[in-house]
Amino acid sequence: MNQELSILGLGGRVAIVTGAASGIGKSAAEILAAAGARVVACDVNAEGVKAAVAGFAGSGHAAEAIDLADLGACDTLVRRTAEREGRLDILLNVAATLRRLDIEDIDEAEWDRLMNVNLRSQYFLCRAAGEAMKSGKWGRIVNVSSGAGLVGGFVGATAYAITKAGIMTLTKSFAKDLGPHGITVNTLSPGAIDTPMQRTGMTRDTLEAARSRIPLGRMGLPAECARAAVFLASDLASYITGHILAADGGFLMR
Ligand SMILES: NC(=O)c1ccc[n+]([C@@H]2O[C@H](COP(=O)([O-])OP(=O)(O)OC[C@H]3O[C@@H](n4cnc5c(N)ncnc54)[C@H](O)[C@@H]3O)[C@@H](O)[C@H]2O)c1
Repeated sequence: MNQELSILGLGGRVAIVTGAASGIGKSAAEILAAAGARVVACDVNAEGVKAAVAGFAGSGHAAEAIDLADLGACDTLVRRTAEREGRLDILLNVAATLRRLDIEDIDEAEWDRLMNVNLRSQYFLCRAAGEAMKSGKWGRIVNVSSGAGLVGGFVGATAYAITKAGIMTLTKSFAKDLGPHGITVNTLSPGAIDTPMQRTGMTRDTLEAARSRIPLGRMGLPAECARAAVFLASDLASYITGHILAADGGFLMR
């Protein structure tokens, strides 16, 4: 374990991280592992998540190939983890999908895919994880949303933004429900973070337009956002629940 991270109190914790093959999820999983947690890293990108886990510090980590559109797979993931590890302490719901489409081009299949991957999976993973965490009387759930969930989508991200708004409300509801069991549930709201998703379907001009509205004057790095997620998952955030934490370089200032 990295001794500088021992203040987080994450040694020996068991954490599920979705979206762990890339970007913010991969970085958060790496930090959790460095802080002494055992990480179950999940992603639809089977090769990517295996490679990510191979680079983690420490031991006892697992890579799981899972498509979050599959509801049964979400339940199985939590049950299998709790059985194998004997506990579950942390869930980072990071994965999401985004295809930039104009409003008139979003058909039923696209709508369903976005809702199922980005929103439905988070609901059912929260529910299953909350149940698994209750016996330990300690738990941390961090649901990753987006500033788009507060102010609407930017460049073909209408339905995506709707899923992200839903995540903020589901977080508050679960925070009320799970609070009495010692489980905190918070939202992390990234701004423009330099990952493959941020660049999907963006031109130089749209990227520059986004950057020019950020007070810190640049896109964030995945680790700058991941650290905020890990903080919410740590002992340091013991009295924070139902909160929306923005890691957005001051973009929204709400
Ligand atoms: N990058 C940004 O600027 C930004 C801004 C706001 C919000 N976010 C949010 O941050 C989170 C992480 O995004 P990122 O920027 O790191 O993107 P990313 O593309 O780097 O990583 C997303 C990961 O999710 C995985 N994934 C996609 N669909 C999946 C599915 N069906 N099942 C399982 N895994 C799946 C991908 O394979 C990928 O590894 C997302 O929830 C995203 O909406 C990102």
